[in-house]
Amino acid sequence: MTVTAEKPASEPSVVKPSWDKGLANTVAAETQMSFIDGAKGILEYVGIDIDSLARNSTFEETVFLLWNLRLPTKAELAAFEQSLRAEYALPDEMYKVISTLPKHATPMHALRTMVSALGTLDPNADDDSLDANRMKALKLVAKTPALIANFDLHRKGKPFAKPDATQNIAGSFLTMLTGQKPTAAMNRALDVCLILHADHGLNASTFAARVTIATLSDMYSAMTTAVGTLKGPLHGGANEEVMVMLNEIGTLDRVDAYIRAKLAKKDLVMGFGHRVYKTTDPRATYLKTFSKQVATDTGNEKLYELSHAIEELMAKEVGPKGIWPNVDFYSATTYHSLGLELDLFTPMFAMSRMSGWSGHCIEQLKDNRLIRPQALYVGPHAVKYVEMAAR
Ligand code: SDX
Repeated sequence: MTVTAEKPASEPSVVKPSWDKGLANTVAAETQMSFIDGAKGILEYVGIDIDSLARNSTFEETVFLLWNLRLPTKAELAAFEQSLRAEYALPDEMYKVISTLPKHATPMHALRTMVSALGTLDPNADDDSLDANRMKALKLVAKTPALIANFDLHRKGKPFAKPDATQNIAGSFLTMLTGQKPTAAMNRALDVCLILHADHGLNASTFAARVTIATLSDMYSAMTTAVGTLKGPLHGGANEEVMVMLNEIGTLDRVDAYIRAKLAKKDLVMGFGHRVYKTTDPRATYLKTFSKQVATDTGNEKLYELSHAIEELMAKEVGPKGIWPNVDFYSATTYHSLGLELDLFTPMFAMSRMSGWSGHCIEQLKDNRLIRPQALYVGPHAVKYVEMAAR
């Protein structure tokens, strides 16, 4: 009996892989949440420009917008705010976890650990249904403020604080952190910062979160990945480095020499430059005016004047190279003026971006494919194994 071999299927079409360092020119996902035009300095959340949102919206409304792809009605917003406030509180076991963390740990190390620990306390952590993931996203956005505030209290040897469900996220956070209710102006200042940091296309930490959830791992693992990625000074950690720089410069007369020395050594001036924006980051534009007001209100004008002088010099020196202020440059002055300690700046970024990260994870799962790029092998081939005696 003649057996004819099945004709092999045609060779799978092999697209020649392209080497795109830093994936600067690679599209790795589709999103409906935020749009960036780096040449024109445009950022939109679901088509609404960031300036309009910063002036008119709230963080809670912005989160609803990002997750539902539309603005809420008045009743929907009230219900959404209530659903967040119902989840502000931490499980009692979480306070035990926080109390075991070393007091010398940096808040971003602590936050990465606490987000991961929160996952061990959620019985639905591994339920990857849409409803379960939307609830986990809500829990993470609602509880991150209490994680950050209570680690800060722990490291200072102060008693833990409970969130205040009569306030918005910004107000409840500042009240836990400082022990007193913030003024309306302080509350609004943090609320605006949370709006501005909520989402930003496929930035490094969002991409990292998508890579994790694309393996069908869980939301808490993806958020832990994202926190660890945001910590880096080339990404979210830049705002803390900006404050270090402002403190090192100290006075206006030292700006010129300090910045020129950095540029001459090809050192990075933190808070400037962006992978996508080749003009001023629109968030920095808004934050600049905002930080001037907050700095003036809190007697920190000097910091704002230093920042403005640095910006003017950088515009002259590297503006033509497309290096302009990014969101981290003026958020530093704003957070400092709010009385936040320097190493709480990046956790503020994470508190807000938890909304974007979790939204992207839910988007990824709607049309998922494991994210697994190729590596260009540049090592040797056909190398013989050498026995130990002969080495
Ligand atoms: C965030 O991606 C996002 O969306 C991120 C973010 C978000 O919301 O998630 O917007 C938040 O991460 C903002 C960026 C915060 N980081 C910093 O402020 C750190 C300082 N910035 C640089 O590290 C840098 O600008 C990056 C990392 C942000 C972007 O770098 P790229 O796109 O990889 O560009 P590059 O490093 O190839 O630089 C191109 C040139 C180089 O000079 P040459 O070798 O061509 O001569 O520009 C220079 C760089 O040296 N350059 C800078 C500079 N940034 C770039 N020179 C001095 N100071 C800087 N800040």
